[in-house]
Amino acid sequence: MSRFTGESVERVKEAADVVEVLSAYTELRRTGTRFTALCPFHDERSPSFSVDPQAKLYHCFGCGVGGDVIKFVEEKEGLSFPDAVEALAERYGVELDREQEDPRAEEQRRKRGRLVELLERTAAFYTHFLWDAPQARKARDYLASRGLGEEALGEFGVGCAPGTWDTVLVRGQQAGYSVAEIEAAGLVLKSQKGRGHYDRFRSRIVFPIRDARGRMQGFGARALTADQKPKYVNSPEGELYSKRRTLYGIERARPAIAKAERAVVVEGYTDVIACHQAGITESVAIMGTAITPEQVRLLAAYAEQAVLALDADRAGREAMLRAQVVAQGKRLRLRVARMSPGEDPADLLAGPAELAGREKFTKALEGSEDLMMFHARSVLEDGDLATPDGRDQVLAELGPIIKSMGDSVEATELRRMLVDRLDTSPQIIARRTGVAPASSDDVSQDEERRMLYSQRERREQALLAMCVRSPADGRDFLERLRPEHFSAPVAARARGWLIDHLEEPTQGLPREDEELVSYITEITMRAEREPAGREAMELSLLELDLGQVDDEIASAETDGGDPPVELQKRRAELTERIARAGG
Ligand code: CTP
Ligand code: MN
Repeated sequence: MSRFTGESVERVKEAADVVEVLSAYTELRRTGTRFTALCPFHDERSPSFSVDPQAKLYHCFGCGVGGDVIKFVEEKEGLSFPDAVEALAERYGVELDREQEDPRAEEQRRKRGRLVELLERTAAFYTHFLWDAPQARKARDYLASRGLGEEALGEFGVGCAPGTWDTVLVRGQQAGYSVAEIEAAGLVLKSQKGRGHYDRFRSRIVFPIRDARGRMQGFGARALTADQKPKYVNSPEGELYSKRRTLYGIERARPAIAKAERAVVVEGYTDVIACHQAGITESVAIMGTAITPEQVRLLAAYAEQAVLALDADRAGREAMLRAQVVAQGKRLRLRVARMSPGEDPADLLAGPAELAGREKFTKALEGSEDLMMFHARSVLEDGDLATPDGRDQVLAELGPIIKSMGDSVEATELRRMLVDRLDTSPQIIARRTGVAPASSDDVSQDEERRMLYSQRERREQALLAMCVRSPADGRDFLERLRPEHFSAPVAARARGWLIDHLEEPTQGLPREDEELVSYITEITMRAEREPAGREAMELSLLELDLGQVDDEIASAETDGGDPPVELQKRRAELTERIARAGG
């Protein structure tokens, strides 16, 4: 796909209200010219998240994330850069221009657009057929017998494919699509004998599948009767549809997930629709497969917590554990709602015993358990705790997992549970589960993060921030600084960047250098807190000079031998000047 022009990306940034966009995720409070909030990217009790509404930047002094409003939408809504730009442009009414497009890419985009449109038309036809055609009576009756009402079915655009062999094929052609296009959209199959094509979905209830932004991706089609095989026919895997990446219902569940701060994950189409009908509108489905890393990533973009209301055996415990690893890196908490085998939400929520079922399901959601706790409990239940070998095996299985959980509340609870159940000493458990020393509570997260920087790195950052704060002097200092002044490579890159972009440091940053992007953002956000004036800058520069001399001395020493006398002299000189300058 061709890129948006830099100019139109800037217009989007200009038009977007960063406070409004971020407010959907965290409560912003004005403090002076900034806003502060609890960071929406990590758990914290006191706010270290800061937003600059003029510069339209955010930065968390706790966890270090930061960027502009587009970056925020990318991260929080799980969108690619172009999708994030497009979403903001739509929201704030900005027209986007594209760079002169590579004609091949342009062609591809156009082709794909046509296929999506064809899917959209076909979905409309299927719904129309479901509600209006006499031949669809059986389908309507079946859906009614499952307790699914017209309103909920309508919301999801559920439809019915006729029993004929070529209705979709013919309609598509009439609408101006070639057979090849209709095939590429996954709507028809080539007949065995190679003569002609026929409709893929026939005599089935069809569920349109859309991406998070509501764009058609494909269909799932369920048999109407028990003897119609297979039970489900789906769109073929390809450019448009991929089962691994699909969360059914996400386009409708998104707002509710943001509001409820959790997603409910169920197995299939009917479960999602029944959940929405029962008011549990934060529900999405994983299409009956074991939950995939792609689905977890998608979920993490929208929710802080996902409650898996799945048949644990069928959904695969292994898969859940893999999901946990992905979720861990994304700060998504996975929980498990215990479902009785063979009992799906659709039957509970829309079945004959609707009220009792609803209560049961709600209880299961409320009583959900952290996935790791759930897993640990299962391992303990299956383990042989009577023998040392058995206990050792349990520890071998759970130890690494608990270790990977760091010093979270859950990990602590799990350790306690193991001490108790295995009847062993806390020291052994601590050793086998790799306890990290807990950070003391009197260190703020900002300080804690800053402690990760060396004193020298802090000085480098401070001087660059001062340059941003006072660009007139800053330009001079940037020229006097050399890459050798910096111990952090990213700081040296930042100097290079600032030389050309001192006026608007955060504009047009190269997105592929993520480290640079967040470094420059942090500097820009810190600039205000730094002292202004040449004297402070001179002092900082002397300190960096000293750092550089120390580097040279150290490298002379590692080469064996004494550092040259000139270096020693320079060092003494610098120390003296720093002392005089009040350092
Ligand atoms: N599924 C699929 N392809 C299959 C089988 C299942 O995509 N061949 C997915 C569908 O999303 C389905 C979900 O797995 O909704 C759950 O499967 P199942 O429980 O068998 O189907 P339900 O839709 O729940 O149908 P029902 O409850 O009416 O039997
Ligand atoms: Mn089912």
